[in-house]
Amino acid sequence: PEAITVQELAKRMGEKGADLVKALFNMDMMVTVNQTIDQDTAELLVEEFGHTIQRVSDSDVDIQKEVDSDPVETMRPRPPVVTIMGHVDHGKTSLLDALRGTDVVRGEAGGITQHIGSYQVTTKGGDKITFLDTPGHAAFTEMRQRGANVTDIVVLVVAADDGIMPQTIEAIKHTQAAGVPMIVAINKIDKPEANAQKIRERLLEHDVMVEAMSGDVQDVEISAKNKTNLDGLLDKIALQAELLELQARPDRPAEAIVIEAQLDKGRGPVATVLITRGTLKKGDNFVVGTESGKVRAIVDDQGKQIKEAGPSMPVEVLGLGGVPDAGEQLTVVENEQRAREVAQYRREKATETRTALAPTNFDAMFSSMK
Ligand code: GTP
Ligand code: MG
Repeated sequence: PEAITVQELAKRMGEKGADLVKALFNMDMMVTVNQTIDQDTAELLVEEFGHTIQRVSDSDVDIQKEVDSDPVETMRPRPPVVTIMGHVDHGKTSLLDALRGTDVVRGEAGGITQHIGSYQVTTKGGDKITFLDTPGHAAFTEMRQRGANVTDIVVLVVAADDGIMPQTIEAIKHTQAAGVPMIVAINKIDKPEANAQKIRERLLEHDVMVEAMSGDVQDVEISAKNKTNLDGLLDKIALQAELLELQARPDRPAEAIVIEAQLDKGRGPVATVLITRGTLKKGDNFVVGTESGKVRAIVDDQGKQIKEAGPSMPVEVLGLGGVPDAGEQLTVVENEQRAREVAQYRREKATETRTALAPTNFDAMFSSMK
């Protein structure tokens, strides 16, 4: 039994409250504009005034998010997504620079990472690995959490001269909460004061038991600076990825997760997304949160425009109607009209849930009349 006030109903119908009260009086119902009427009475009134009722439910308008898993025979292996986490200055970005042969650190303000970087690396064996670089600074908890939640594997970077620090512990907690396997990379072993064994021992206090301590968490000693043992780390990532048997269906409309998004001066709203399944193509219509869009360009991690992007690829998407929130899902739909319809519906729902007075059933029922 849903209820709505006469006033609210009148507002939605674009009629005067007094006219509704009059009509109700003729139907032998004595109510004032501030009183509520039930759903059946509301429907009668709507028809009486010559409006058509269009019942809409979430499942009619919004995208079905049910367990529409892809058939096994359509699944193909996909690259692992690996998030690098750890305390500030422990060498996360340096490690990725060493792996990619780049120098991102030099371009960072104060050498501090302030956003999530996303890159794809091809190993000597030809396998691809997607890396997400997260900030270690205390202020960026939310980004670390997001990083842990979209990833298959976490590489925890701990500087051997500094040891377990507050954001090391925080990263461990995010990883454990996300239920993601971890590999510990003990970095800066080139430093004379490096003490890798102490780190292994201290990790026990945080329920991280590395293999050397007879646990099952892999650990590896590296130096990002001297590029020591990076292949060893890549091997351990490959081993862990193999155990996970990561798969996704490539030949279907794409779904992706927004890693971050911003308004770019020249290019408009830009979202960095990670493809979770399907293949994203230029010209695809999509909805992401309460925004719709049409893929105008896909840019890879080298800044190169590409025609399409498959599972586990991190890419920039241009052609959004607005800036979506990080963590939101991007879903490709049949056509432009559908994309707009879903985005519009979600926007209305978002405002409606803020209107405490309005019961959801009525919201859905009359949303098409606006
Ligand atoms: P945030 O992103 O701000 O959390 O820092 P980060 O973890 O990305 O650290 P970054 O890569 O910026 O490195 C911090 C400092 O440590 C830089 O001065 C690096 O040159 C130095 N560094 C990184 N790796 C090594 C290493 O293996 N050995 C030595 N000696 N120095 C290193
Ligand atoms: Mg960094």
